[in-house]
Amino acid sequence: MSPVEQMIESIPESAWQVSRRSFMKRLVGGVAAASLLSGSRLASAATLAPLAETAKALDGKEMGDERFWGLVKDQFILKEGLALMNAANLCPSPYPVMETVFNLTRDIDRDASFPNRAKFSEMQETTRKKLEELLGAAPDTIALVRNTSEANNVVSSGIVLKPGDEVVLSDLNHPSNGVAWEVKARRYGFTIKKVHIDVPPKSPDDIIKAFRSALTPATRVLAFTHVASTSSGVLMPAKELCMIARERGIWAHVDGAQSFGALNVNLTDMGCDSYSGSAHKWFMGPKEVGILYVRKERVDALWPSIISVPWRDQIVGARKFEALGQRDDSAIAAVGRTVDFHNMIGKARVEARMRAIATAIKEGITKIPGVQLYASMAPELSAGVIIFKPGTADPRKAFTKLYEKFQIAGASSGGETPGVRLSPHIYNTMAEVDRVLAAVSDIMKNGA
Ligand SMILES: Cc1ncc(COP(=O)(O)O)c(C=O)c1O
Repeated sequence: MSPVEQMIESIPESAWQVSRRSFMKRLVGGVAAASLLSGSRLASAATLAPLAETAKALDGKEMGDERFWGLVKDQFILKEGLALMNAANLCPSPYPVMETVFNLTRDIDRDASFPNRAKFSEMQETTRKKLEELLGAAPDTIALVRNTSEANNVVSSGIVLKPGDEVVLSDLNHPSNGVAWEVKARRYGFTIKKVHIDVPPKSPDDIIKAFRSALTPATRVLAFTHVASTSSGVLMPAKELCMIARERGIWAHVDGAQSFGALNVNLTDMGCDSYSGSAHKWFMGPKEVGILYVRKERVDALWPSIISVPWRDQIVGARKFEALGQRDDSAIAAVGRTVDFHNMIGKARVEARMRAIATAIKEGITKIPGVQLYASMAPELSAGVIIFKPGTADPRKAFTKLYEKFQIAGASSGGETPGVRLSPHIYNTMAEVDRVLAAVSDIMKNGA
Protein backbone atom coordinates (compact mmCIF):
# COMPACT_ATOMS: atom_id res chain seq x y z
CA MET A 1 0.00 0.00 0.00
CA SER A 2 1.38 3.42 -0.95
CA PRO A 3 1.59 6.19 1.72
CA VAL A 4 -1.34 7.97 0.05
CA GLU A 5 -3.42 4.78 0.09
CA GLN A 6 -2.51 4.25 3.75
CA MET A 7 -3.62 7.77 4.57
CA ILE A 8 -6.94 7.27 2.79
CA GLU A 9 -7.36 3.90 4.50
CA SER A 10 -6.90 5.52 7.93
CA ILE A 11 -9.84 7.89 7.42
CA PRO A 12 -12.83 6.53 9.37
CA GLU A 13 -15.66 4.99 7.39
CA SER A 14 -18.09 7.58 8.66
CA ALA A 15 -16.16 10.31 6.88
CA TRP A 16 -17.13 8.94 3.48
CA GLN A 17 -20.61 8.84 2.07
CA VAL A 18 -19.52 5.79 0.10
CA SER A 19 -17.42 2.88 1.29
CA ARG A 20 -13.68 3.28 1.35
CA ARG A 21 -13.36 0.24 -0.83
CA SER A 22 -15.51 1.72 -3.57
CA PHE A 23 -13.84 5.10 -3.08
CA MET A 24 -10.43 3.54 -3.59
CA LYS A 25 -11.61 1.55 -6.58
CA ARG A 26 -13.14 4.58 -8.22
CA LEU A 27 -10.19 6.77 -7.26
CA VAL A 28 -7.87 4.37 -8.98
CA GLY A 29 -10.28 4.21 -11.91
CA GLY A 30 -10.25 7.98 -12.08
CA VAL A 31 -13.96 8.62 -12.47
CA ALA A 32 -15.61 11.99 -12.07
CA ALA A 33 -16.96 13.12 -8.72
CA ALA A 34 -20.58 12.73 -9.78
CA SER A 35 -20.32 9.01 -10.25
CA LEU A 36 -17.74 8.71 -7.49
CA LEU A 37 -20.25 9.78 -4.93
CA SER A 38 -23.34 8.28 -6.47
CA GLY A 39 -25.38 6.04 -4.25
CA SER A 40 -25.21 8.45 -1.33
CA ARG A 41 -28.02 10.86 -0.45
CA LEU A 42 -26.32 13.31 -2.69
CA ALA A 43 -27.30 15.80 -5.27
CA SER A 44 -26.13 14.83 -8.69
CA ALA A 45 -26.14 16.76 -11.91
CA ALA A 46 -29.64 15.36 -12.35
CA THR A 47 -31.01 17.43 -9.49
CA LEU A 48 -29.66 20.65 -10.93
CA ALA A 49 -32.02 20.85 -13.87
CA PRO A 50 -35.17 20.61 -11.74
CA LEU A 51 -33.77 23.25 -9.41
CA ALA A 52 -33.19 25.65 -12.27
CA GLU A 53 -36.65 24.87 -13.61
CA THR A 54 -38.24 25.31 -10.21
CA ALA A 55 -36.41 28.58 -9.72
CA LYS A 56 -37.88 29.76 -13.01
CA ALA A 57 -41.33 28.47 -12.13
CA LEU A 58 -41.30 30.21 -8.79
CA ASP A 59 -39.95 33.48 -10.12
CA GLY A 60 -42.12 36.31 -8.83
CA LYS A 61 -44.33 33.93 -6.88
CA GLU A 62 -44.89 33.82 -3.14
CA MET A 63 -42.17 32.33 -0.95
CA GLY A 64 -42.94 29.30 1.10
CA ASP A 65 -42.98 26.30 -1.19
CA GLU A 66 -41.10 23.69 0.81
CA ARG A 67 -40.68 21.49 -2.29
CA PHE A 68 -38.50 24.15 -3.88
CA TRP A 69 -36.33 24.36 -0.79
CA GLY A 70 -36.23 20.57 -0.63
CA LEU A 71 -34.59 20.64 -4.04
CA VAL A 72 -32.14 23.26 -2.82
CA LYS A 73 -31.31 21.09 0.18
CA ASP A 74 -30.68 18.16 -2.13
CA GLN A 75 -27.78 20.11 -3.61
CA PHE A 76 -25.89 19.54 -0.34
CA ILE A 77 -24.45 16.30 0.99
CA LEU A 78 -25.48 17.08 4.55
CA LYS A 79 -25.29 14.17 6.98
CA GLU A 80 -28.67 12.48 7.26
CA GLY A 81 -30.55 13.73 10.29
CA LEU A 82 -28.21 16.65 11.01
CA ALA A 83 -29.82 20.08 11.30
CA LEU A 84 -26.80 22.27 10.54
CA MET A 85 -27.31 25.81 11.80
CA ASN A 86 -23.77 27.12 11.95
CA ALA A 87 -23.52 29.35 8.86
CA ALA A 88 -21.98 32.16 10.92
CA ASN A 89 -18.96 29.92 11.33
CA LEU A 90 -18.71 27.62 8.29
CA CYS A 91 -21.10 26.54 5.55
CA PRO A 92 -21.15 23.46 3.39
CA SER A 93 -20.87 23.94 -0.37
CA PRO A 94 -23.54 22.70 -2.73
CA TYR A 95 -22.59 19.78 -4.91
CA PRO A 96 -21.76 21.74 -8.10
CA VAL A 97 -19.21 23.78 -6.13
CA MET A 98 -17.64 20.70 -4.54
CA GLU A 99 -17.52 19.08 -7.94
CA THR A 100 -15.75 22.09 -9.44
CA VAL A 101 -13.14 22.08 -6.68
CA PHE A 102 -12.70 18.34 -7.04
CA ASN A 103 -12.43 18.28 -10.82
CA LEU A 104 -10.08 21.23 -11.07
CA THR A 105 -7.86 19.95 -8.25
CA ARG A 106 -7.71 16.66 -10.08
CA ASP A 107 -6.84 18.45 -13.29
CA ILE A 108 -3.95 20.27 -11.55
CA ASP A 109 -2.71 17.12 -9.90
CA ARG A 110 -2.67 15.33 -13.23
CA ASP A 111 -0.76 18.09 -14.98
CA ALA A 112 0.69 20.91 -12.88
CA SER A 113 2.51 22.39 -15.86
CA PHE A 114 2.34 26.09 -16.72
CA PRO A 115 0.55 25.41 -20.03
CA ASN A 116 -2.17 23.36 -18.33
CA ARG A 117 -2.67 25.92 -15.57
CA ALA A 118 -2.75 28.94 -17.88
CA LYS A 119 -6.55 28.70 -18.00
CA PHE A 120 -6.82 29.59 -14.30
CA SER A 121 -5.98 33.27 -14.89
CA GLU A 122 -9.03 33.54 -17.10
CA MET A 123 -11.17 31.63 -14.57
CA GLN A 124 -10.03 34.01 -11.84
CA GLU A 125 -11.13 36.99 -13.94
CA THR A 126 -14.48 35.31 -14.63
CA THR A 127 -14.94 34.75 -10.90
CA ARG A 128 -14.14 38.40 -10.17
CA LYS A 129 -16.60 39.64 -12.79
CA LYS A 130 -19.38 37.38 -11.51
CA LEU A 131 -18.80 38.53 -7.93
CA GLU A 132 -18.81 42.18 -8.98
CA GLU A 133 -22.13 41.66 -10.73
CA LEU A 134 -23.59 39.75 -7.78
CA LEU A 135 -22.54 42.43 -5.31
CA GLY A 136 -23.30 45.50 -7.42
CA ALA A 137 -19.65 46.53 -7.52
CA ALA A 138 -17.82 48.36 -10.31
CA PRO A 139 -15.30 46.41 -12.42
CA ASP A 140 -11.85 45.79 -10.87
CA THR A 141 -12.98 46.58 -7.33
CA ILE A 142 -12.96 43.07 -5.86
CA ALA A 143 -9.78 41.30 -4.80
CA LEU A 144 -9.85 37.54 -4.24
CA VAL A 145 -8.05 37.13 -0.95
CA ARG A 146 -8.18 34.23 1.53
CA ASN A 147 -10.78 35.16 4.11
CA THR A 148 -12.45 38.04 5.94
CA SER A 149 -9.65 38.17 8.50
CA GLU A 150 -7.11 38.83 5.78
CA ALA A 151 -9.32 41.38 4.01
CA ASN A 152 -9.96 43.27 7.28
CA ASN A 153 -6.24 43.32 7.99
CA VAL A 154 -5.35 44.60 4.53
CA VAL A 155 -7.52 47.60 5.37
CA SER A 156 -6.20 48.20 8.91
CA SER A 157 -2.59 47.81 7.73
CA GLY A 158 -3.01 49.62 4.44
CA ILE A 159 -4.54 52.97 5.41
CA VAL A 160 -1.82 55.45 6.36
CA LEU A 161 -2.55 56.57 9.95
CA LYS A 162 -0.43 58.57 12.38
CA PRO A 163 -0.57 59.87 15.97
CA GLY A 164 -3.56 62.18 16.37
CA ASP A 165 -5.72 60.22 13.92
CA GLU A 166 -8.77 58.42 15.29
CA VAL A 167 -10.39 55.13 14.28
CA VAL A 168 -13.97 54.50 15.42
CA LEU A 169 -15.05 50.90 16.02
CA SER A 170 -17.94 49.29 17.86
CA ASP A 171 -17.77 46.85 20.76
CA LEU A 172 -19.35 44.24 18.50
CA ASN A 173 -16.45 44.06 16.03
CA HIS A 174 -14.81 40.69 15.37
CA PRO A 175 -11.14 40.54 16.53
CA SER A 176 -9.93 40.74 12.91
CA ASN A 177 -11.63 44.15 12.69
CA GLY A 178 -11.18 45.11 16.36
CA VAL A 179 -8.08 43.73 18.09
CA ALA A 180 -6.29 44.07 14.73
CA TRP A 181 -6.86 47.85 14.82
CA GLU A 182 -5.74 48.01 18.47
CA VAL A 183 -2.46 46.23 17.72
CA LYS A 184 -1.77 48.60 14.82
CA ALA A 185 -2.72 51.60 16.96
CA ARG A 186 0.07 50.54 19.36
CA ARG A 187 2.51 50.40 16.47
CA TYR A 188 1.56 53.58 14.60
CA GLY A 189 0.30 55.72 17.48
CA PHE A 190 -3.24 56.45 16.30
CA THR A 191 -6.20 56.34 18.69
CA ILE A 192 -9.12 53.90 18.91
CA LYS A 193 -12.61 54.91 20.01
CA LYS A 194 -15.17 52.20 20.69
CA VAL A 195 -18.90 52.80 20.40
CA HIS A 196 -21.14 50.75 22.69
CA ILE A 197 -24.15 49.10 21.05
CA ASP A 198 -27.04 47.98 23.29
CA VAL A 199 -28.10 44.33 23.16
CA PRO A 200 -30.48 44.25 21.43
CA PRO A 201 -30.39 47.82 20.14
CA LYS A 202 -33.67 49.74 20.24
CA SER A 203 -33.55 51.17 16.73
CA PRO A 204 -31.20 51.79 13.80
CA ASP A 205 -31.36 55.47 14.78
CA ASP A 206 -29.84 54.70 18.19
CA ILE A 207 -26.92 52.99 16.45
CA ILE A 208 -26.46 55.87 14.03
CA LYS A 209 -26.56 58.40 16.89
CA ALA A 210 -23.99 56.42 18.89
CA PHE A 211 -21.57 56.33 15.96
CA ARG A 212 -22.22 59.93 14.94
CA SER A 213 -21.43 61.26 18.41
CA ALA A 214 -18.09 59.41 18.36
CA LEU A 215 -16.90 61.12 15.16
CA THR A 216 -14.58 64.12 15.44
CA PRO A 217 -12.51 66.12 12.95
CA ALA A 218 -9.67 63.70 13.76
CA THR A 219 -11.65 60.58 12.72
CA ARG A 220 -10.11 58.91 9.69
CA VAL A 221 -11.82 55.50 9.73
CA LEU A 222 -15.18 54.07 10.77
CA ALA A 223 -14.94 50.26 10.79
CA PHE A 224 -17.94 48.18 11.79
CA THR A 225 -19.45 44.74 11.43
CA HIS A 226 -22.41 44.56 9.05
CA VAL A 227 -23.97 41.74 11.08
CA ALA A 228 -22.46 40.90 14.46
CA SER A 229 -21.60 37.27 15.05
CA THR A 230 -21.77 37.67 18.83
CA SER A 231 -24.04 39.30 21.45
CA SER A 232 -27.20 40.18 19.58
CA GLY A 233 -26.35 39.28 15.99
CA VAL A 234 -27.35 42.85 15.23
CA LEU A 235 -27.65 44.08 11.64
CA MET A 236 -26.11 47.53 11.44
CA PRO A 237 -27.65 50.32 9.33
CA ALA A 238 -24.71 50.07 6.95
CA LYS A 239 -25.90 52.48 4.28
CA GLU A 240 -26.58 55.28 6.78
CA LEU A 241 -23.30 54.70 8.63
CA CYS A 242 -21.36 54.76 5.36
CA MET A 243 -23.13 57.97 4.40
CA ILE A 244 -22.22 59.81 7.59
CA ALA A 245 -18.63 58.65 7.14
CA ARG A 246 -18.43 59.58 3.46
CA GLU A 247 -19.88 63.07 4.14
CA ARG A 248 -16.90 63.70 6.41
CA GLY A 249 -14.27 62.10 4.19
CA ILE A 250 -13.93 59.23 6.70
CA TRP A 251 -13.06 55.77 5.36
CA ALA A 252 -16.05 53.45 5.93
CA HIS A 253 -14.99 49.81 6.25
CA VAL A 254 -17.67 47.14 6.55
CA ASP A 255 -16.90 43.63 7.78
CA GLY A 256 -19.30 41.54 5.71
CA ALA A 257 -18.44 38.09 7.09
CA GLN A 258 -22.05 37.62 8.24
CA SER A 259 -23.76 39.31 5.29
CA PHE A 260 -21.88 38.18 2.16
CA GLY A 261 -24.01 35.38 0.69
CA ALA A 262 -26.79 35.85 3.24
CA LEU A 263 -28.18 39.29 2.46
CA ASN A 264 -29.02 40.89 -0.85
CA VAL A 265 -26.01 43.19 -0.69
CA ASN A 266 -25.35 45.94 -3.22
CA LEU A 267 -22.02 47.56 -2.45
CA THR A 268 -22.48 50.61 -4.66
CA ASP A 269 -25.77 51.33 -2.94
CA MET A 270 -24.25 50.72 0.50
CA GLY A 271 -21.60 53.31 -0.31
CA CYS A 272 -18.79 51.77 1.72
CA ASP A 273 -15.12 52.36 0.93
CA SER A 274 -14.25 48.74 1.62
CA TYR A 275 -16.07 45.50 2.41
CA SER A 276 -14.77 42.06 3.36
CA GLY A 277 -16.22 38.56 3.27
CA SER A 278 -15.43 34.84 3.35
CA ALA A 279 -16.62 32.46 0.65
CA HIS A 280 -16.80 29.62 3.18
CA LYS A 281 -19.49 31.23 5.32
CA TRP A 282 -22.99 32.22 4.15
CA PHE A 283 -21.88 32.36 0.53
CA MET A 284 -21.52 28.54 0.66
CA GLY A 285 -18.45 28.61 -1.53
CA PRO A 286 -15.12 26.81 -1.33
CA LYS A 287 -12.98 27.05 1.78
CA GLU A 288 -10.31 29.68 2.26
CA VAL A 289 -11.25 32.18 -0.39
CA GLY A 290 -12.31 35.64 0.70
CA ILE A 291 -13.21 38.91 -0.92
CA LEU A 292 -11.98 42.43 -0.38
CA TYR A 293 -13.96 45.15 -2.13
CA VAL A 294 -12.30 48.55 -2.36
CA ARG A 295 -14.18 51.45 -3.94
CA LYS A 296 -12.51 52.49 -7.18
CA GLU A 297 -11.66 55.99 -5.96
CA ARG A 298 -10.02 54.54 -2.82
CA VAL A 299 -7.80 51.85 -4.34
CA ASP A 300 -4.78 54.16 -4.69
CA ALA A 301 -4.99 55.24 -1.04
CA LEU A 302 -4.73 51.68 0.31
CA TRP A 303 -1.35 49.95 0.54
CA PRO A 304 -1.22 46.21 -0.11
CA SER A 305 -0.01 44.07 2.80
CA ILE A 306 1.54 41.19 0.89
CA ILE A 307 3.62 41.58 -2.24
CA SER A 308 4.36 38.42 -4.15
CA VAL A 309 3.61 36.97 -7.56
CA PRO A 310 1.75 38.27 -9.62
CA TRP A 311 2.57 41.79 -8.39
CA ARG A 312 3.53 44.41 -10.96
CA ASP A 313 3.52 48.19 -10.65
CA GLN A 314 0.84 48.59 -13.33
CA ILE A 315 -1.54 46.21 -11.62
CA VAL A 316 -5.15 47.29 -12.22
CA GLY A 317 -7.64 48.04 -9.45
CA ALA A 318 -8.16 45.79 -6.44
CA ARG A 319 -5.93 43.07 -7.94
CA LYS A 320 -3.07 44.70 -6.07
CA PHE A 321 -4.43 43.20 -2.84
CA GLU A 322 -4.30 39.62 -4.10
CA ALA A 323 -0.62 39.26 -5.08
CA LEU A 324 -0.34 36.53 -2.45
CA GLY A 325 1.81 33.97 -4.27
CA GLN A 326 0.56 30.50 -5.21
CA ARG A 327 -3.15 30.07 -4.54
CA ASP A 328 -5.64 27.24 -4.64
CA ASP A 329 -6.73 27.98 -8.19
CA SER A 330 -9.49 25.39 -8.12
CA ALA A 331 -11.13 27.05 -5.11
CA ILE A 332 -10.98 30.49 -6.73
CA ALA A 333 -12.58 29.12 -9.90
CA ALA A 334 -15.26 27.43 -7.78
CA VAL A 335 -16.24 30.80 -6.31
CA GLY A 336 -17.56 31.67 -9.77
CA ARG A 337 -19.60 28.47 -9.75
CA THR A 338 -21.01 29.47 -6.37
CA VAL A 339 -22.18 32.76 -7.85
CA ASP A 340 -24.00 30.70 -10.51
CA PHE A 341 -25.67 28.77 -7.70
CA HIS A 342 -26.84 31.99 -6.01
CA ASN A 343 -28.07 33.37 -9.32
CA MET A 344 -29.96 30.18 -10.04
CA ILE A 345 -31.95 30.64 -6.83
CA GLY A 346 -31.94 34.45 -6.89
CA LYS A 347 -30.12 36.41 -4.20
CA ALA A 348 -33.26 38.16 -2.96
CA ARG A 349 -34.85 34.76 -2.53
CA VAL A 350 -31.80 33.46 -0.65
CA GLU A 351 -32.14 36.30 1.85
CA ALA A 352 -35.90 35.88 2.13
CA ARG A 353 -35.68 32.15 2.83
CA MET A 354 -32.85 32.54 5.31
CA ARG A 355 -34.86 35.21 7.09
CA ALA A 356 -38.05 33.11 7.04
CA ILE A 357 -36.26 30.27 8.83
CA ALA A 358 -34.52 32.61 11.29
CA THR A 359 -37.76 34.44 12.06
CA ALA A 360 -39.63 31.18 12.67
CA ILE A 361 -36.93 30.11 15.15
CA LYS A 362 -36.97 33.48 16.94
CA GLU A 363 -40.75 33.62 17.13
CA GLY A 364 -40.89 30.08 18.52
CA ILE A 365 -38.08 30.64 21.00
CA THR A 366 -39.68 33.74 22.52
CA LYS A 367 -42.71 31.59 23.37
CA ILE A 368 -40.65 29.13 25.43
CA PRO A 369 -40.81 30.27 29.08
CA GLY A 370 -37.46 31.34 30.51
CA VAL A 371 -35.55 31.74 27.24
CA GLN A 372 -34.02 35.16 26.68
CA LEU A 373 -33.56 36.13 23.05
CA TYR A 374 -30.65 38.52 22.52
CA ALA A 375 -31.29 38.90 18.79
CA SER A 376 -33.79 41.53 17.74
CA MET A 377 -37.13 40.54 16.19
CA ALA A 378 -36.99 43.63 13.95
CA PRO A 379 -35.83 42.77 10.42
CA GLU A 380 -33.95 46.07 10.15
CA LEU A 381 -31.89 45.10 13.21
CA SER A 382 -31.30 41.41 12.58
CA ALA A 383 -30.30 38.93 9.90
CA GLY A 384 -29.33 35.25 10.22
CA VAL A 385 -27.51 35.20 13.54
CA ILE A 386 -29.73 34.15 16.46
CA ILE A 387 -28.34 34.19 19.98
CA PHE A 388 -30.37 33.24 23.04
CA LYS A 389 -29.81 32.47 26.72
CA PRO A 390 -31.36 29.13 27.69
CA GLY A 391 -32.54 30.31 31.12
CA THR A 392 -30.20 29.20 33.89
CA ALA A 393 -28.75 26.34 31.83
CA ASP A 394 -25.04 26.57 30.99
CA PRO A 395 -24.98 27.69 27.32
CA ARG A 396 -21.99 25.46 26.54
CA LYS A 397 -23.80 22.42 27.91
CA ALA A 398 -26.97 23.41 26.07
CA PHE A 399 -25.00 23.67 22.84
CA THR A 400 -23.47 20.22 23.44
CA LYS A 401 -26.87 18.67 24.25
CA LEU A 402 -28.37 20.20 21.13
CA TYR A 403 -25.73 18.45 19.07
CA GLU A 404 -25.37 15.17 20.89
CA LYS A 405 -29.00 14.45 21.73
CA PHE A 406 -30.87 16.34 19.02
CA GLN A 407 -28.35 16.53 16.14
CA ILE A 408 -28.72 20.28 15.91
CA ALA A 409 -25.39 21.94 15.19
CA GLY A 410 -25.09 25.53 16.37
CA ALA A 411 -22.40 27.19 18.46
CA SER A 412 -21.96 28.53 21.95
CA SER A 413 -21.39 32.22 22.17
CA GLY A 414 -19.27 33.91 24.86
CA GLY A 415 -18.60 37.53 25.73
CA GLU A 416 -20.94 39.77 27.71
CA THR A 417 -24.02 37.84 26.62
CA PRO A 418 -23.13 34.14 26.81
CA GLY A 419 -25.67 32.04 24.98
CA VAL A 420 -26.40 29.54 22.25
CA ARG A 421 -25.99 30.71 18.66
CA LEU A 422 -28.00 29.30 15.76
CA SER A 423 -27.34 30.54 12.24
CA PRO A 424 -29.66 28.76 9.80
CA HIS A 425 -29.48 29.02 6.03
CA ILE A 426 -31.31 27.99 2.87
CA TYR A 427 -30.50 24.30 3.37
CA ASN A 428 -32.59 24.24 6.55
CA THR A 429 -36.25 23.34 6.58
CA MET A 430 -39.33 24.38 8.55
CA ALA A 431 -39.37 20.82 9.97
CA GLU A 432 -35.92 21.51 11.41
CA VAL A 433 -37.26 24.70 12.98
CA ASP A 434 -39.82 22.54 14.82
CA ARG A 435 -37.01 20.24 15.97
CA VAL A 436 -35.07 23.21 17.34
CA LEU A 437 -38.08 24.46 19.29
CA ALA A 438 -38.79 21.00 20.73
CA ALA A 439 -35.12 20.60 21.71
CA VAL A 440 -34.90 24.02 23.40
CA SER A 441 -38.15 23.26 25.28
CA ASP A 442 -36.60 19.99 26.46
CA ILE A 443 -33.50 21.81 27.72
CA MET A 444 -35.65 24.33 29.59
CA LYS A 445 -37.65 21.51 31.19
CA ASN A 446 -34.97 18.93 31.89
CA GLY A 447 -31.79 21.04 31.94
CA ALA A 448 -28.73 20.81 29.79
C1 LIG B 1 -17.89 39.32 11.88
C2 LIG B 1 -16.75 38.43 11.53
N1 LIG B 1 -15.66 38.94 10.93
C3 LIG B 1 -14.63 38.18 10.57
C4 LIG B 1 -14.63 36.82 10.79
C5 LIG B 1 -13.45 36.00 10.39
O1 LIG B 1 -13.79 35.16 9.33
P1 LIG B 1 -12.67 34.19 8.73
O2 LIG B 1 -12.28 33.27 9.83
O3 LIG B 1 -13.34 33.50 7.60
O4 LIG B 1 -11.55 35.06 8.31
C6 LIG B 1 -15.73 36.24 11.44
C7 LIG B 1 -15.76 34.81 11.73
O5 LIG B 1 -16.65 34.25 12.29
C8 LIG B 1 -16.82 37.07 11.80
O6 LIG B 1 -17.90 36.58 12.39
